[in-house]
Amino acid sequence: MDPFSLKSKVILITGASSGIGRSCSVECSKRGADLILLGRNRDELMKTLSLLESGSKAEIIAEDITQPENIESAIADKVMILGKISGFIHCAGIEKTLPLKKHNAALYHDIFAINVIAGFEIAKILSLKKYKEETSSFVFISSVAGMVGEPGKAAYSASKGAVISGARSLAMELCRSNVRVNSISPAMVNTPILERMFEEIGEEASSEIIRKHPLGIGNPEDVANACIFLLSDASRWVTGTNLVIDGGYSAQ
Ligand SMILES: NC(=O)c1ccc[n+]([C@@H]2O[C@H](COP(=O)([O-])OP(=O)(O)OC[C@H]3O[C@@H](n4cnc5c(N)ncnc54)[C@H](OP(=O)(O)O)[C@@H]3O)[C@@H](O)[C@H]2O)c1
Repeated sequence: MDPFSLKSKVILITGASSGIGRSCSVECSKRGADLILLGRNRDELMKTLSLLESGSKAEIIAEDITQPENIESAIADKVMILGKISGFIHCAGIEKTLPLKKHNAALYHDIFAINVIAGFEIAKILSLKKYKEETSSFVFISSVAGMVGEPGKAAYSASKGAVISGARSLAMELCRSNVRVNSISPAMVNTPILERMFEEIGEEASSEIIRKHPLGIGNPEDVANACIFLLSDASRWVTGTNLVIDGGYSAQ
């Protein structure tokens, strides 16, 4: 049996309508997983659906994850169709690069609501016996910004640091329920979030950031492969860790 196989696992992925979440969906389907794809944009979720390996079963939830009361009933419906859930990737996220003087309470709140609180609220739902397979694995997509300082990123970095430390505590709490919990910290990955950031900070600052990646900018599949490891039985002895996937960015 291939220890990296995701066959007969049902995996819920937030942010499945774009970027890293879309790539995670496609790569997990290639490993045999059935999927619940979560995002707001139904058309983009349908596009992800069309890219999945033929034969993999998938359901869509088009909801705003900052409204968890709508999410639980949607999850319950999908569990009825696909079976209990054994994997979760919280990939939905927003990024803002702004000088501190442009940060305000609303900005911190918006970023934390999606990057942190929504992910932990969904984890709470998925740790309930009625939705959870006997063993399961939760993966939170953080960022190197949660470990390394960067100008203009106070709110974003704080949210990603919270993801790393919150996931570690969840790992300690949920191990009794046979749930492993880990985070992944990517550096820059070629996705729409990165394009938007480069537009915000301009050409010179963008080139400077690219230069800081010894192996260059990453691709979404580089992060998806790390998710496959953490979701599969290959990582059955791994919990409470933060896996850095950054082309050498934080090694300098
Ligand atoms: N790209 C990078 O360089 C990089 C580096 C380090 C970490 N990360 C992290 O990786 C994750 C994915 O980034 P990405 O580059 O793939 O970003 P992306 O292409 O902009 O995708 C963001 C995803 O989040 C979803 N989302 C945002 N707000 C939502 C909400 N309120 N409710 C439901 N879904 C919501 C979006 O779905 P809808 O559009 O359908 O709402 C979309 O699928 C983020 O957590 C990001 O911080 C990215």
